[in-house]
Amino acid sequence: MADLQAIVDEIHEKLTPRLGEGKVADYIPQLAHVDPKRFGMAIIDVEGRVFKAGDADVPFSIQSISKVFTLTLALGKHGETTWNRVGREPSGSAFNSIVQLEHEEGKPRNPFINAGAIAVSDLVLAGHTPREAIGEIVRFVRYLADDETIAIDPDVAKSEQATGYRNFALANFMRSFNKLTHPVEHVLGVYFHHCALAMTCTQLAKSGLFLAASGRNPLTGHTVVSKQRARRINALMLTCGHYDGSGDFAYRVGLPGKSGVGGGILAVAPGRASVAVWSPGLNHNGNSLIGSLALEMLATRTGWSVF
Ligand code: DON
Repeated sequence: MADLQAIVDEIHEKLTPRLGEGKVADYIPQLAHVDPKRFGMAIIDVEGRVFKAGDADVPFSIQSISKVFTLTLALGKHGETTWNRVGREPSGSAFNSIVQLEHEEGKPRNPFINAGAIAVSDLVLAGHTPREAIGEIVRFVRYLADDETIAIDPDVAKSEQATGYRNFALANFMRSFNKLTHPVEHVLGVYFHHCALAMTCTQLAKSGLFLAASGRNPLTGHTVVSKQRARRINALMLTCGHYDGSGDFAYRVGLPGKSGVGGGILAVAPGRASVAVWSPGLNHNGNSLIGSLALEMLATRTGWSVF
């Protein structure tokens, strides 16, 4: 078997001179303060072994990576009827795009673009107050990672609430098609808070391990989802997890993955490992530039591509 610690160390060393490349997201003011030279990477294999480098234990804003967890929760609550509210096709558009919604009657293309994740927040809200729904999401992520210390960064949530004009536009537009069942403010309250979850690469890799191990977290023994559902979530991550950069990520890395504008990426090597990387500089699609390179190097060295 490949020496994963040596591979992670080598990736870290090779990418160190390039840290700072890309553009840190600044449309959420609180994210603009992050040091662009940060780099963390953590791999947890299905036997529970952990391999890490750099800032793997420094918390960062996971942003859109949280959409994997809210989708998993919504599927648990609503099963296949989830797909009445959100599609399963790549959008080929930016993460915050509004154009397709008009032609497609307020039904977002997939659960990972902002509009789709807002629809999923509406589904998670069912039968709850926003506070309860947010609590449920935090408890779910703590259960996945087996780590009670995971929390939401309230300043990031507030910062986005204050400046999230696009997301308000998306949610109001969907509401105009009767595609949201709760008040826009409640739905977005849930959405902004789950995007503001702060996690380390190690915590994130742990929380994604169930997707690498057919739905069961091998660290805790908990069956989170069925084998079929894990496979399906992975399929969505592969086709839609990097927005209009999903094709490029599949081409270069070949693993299901989900990015966030905080610079994190969670990638899943089915049957092998869960991997989290963090480097705040983004490429033009809003995905971590150095993080994508790190995963490309990992896939090349390990042969873990699903293709
Ligand atoms: O809604 C937003 O704009 C952010 N909370 C999340 C966006 C995001 O992470 C897109 N990812 N690349």
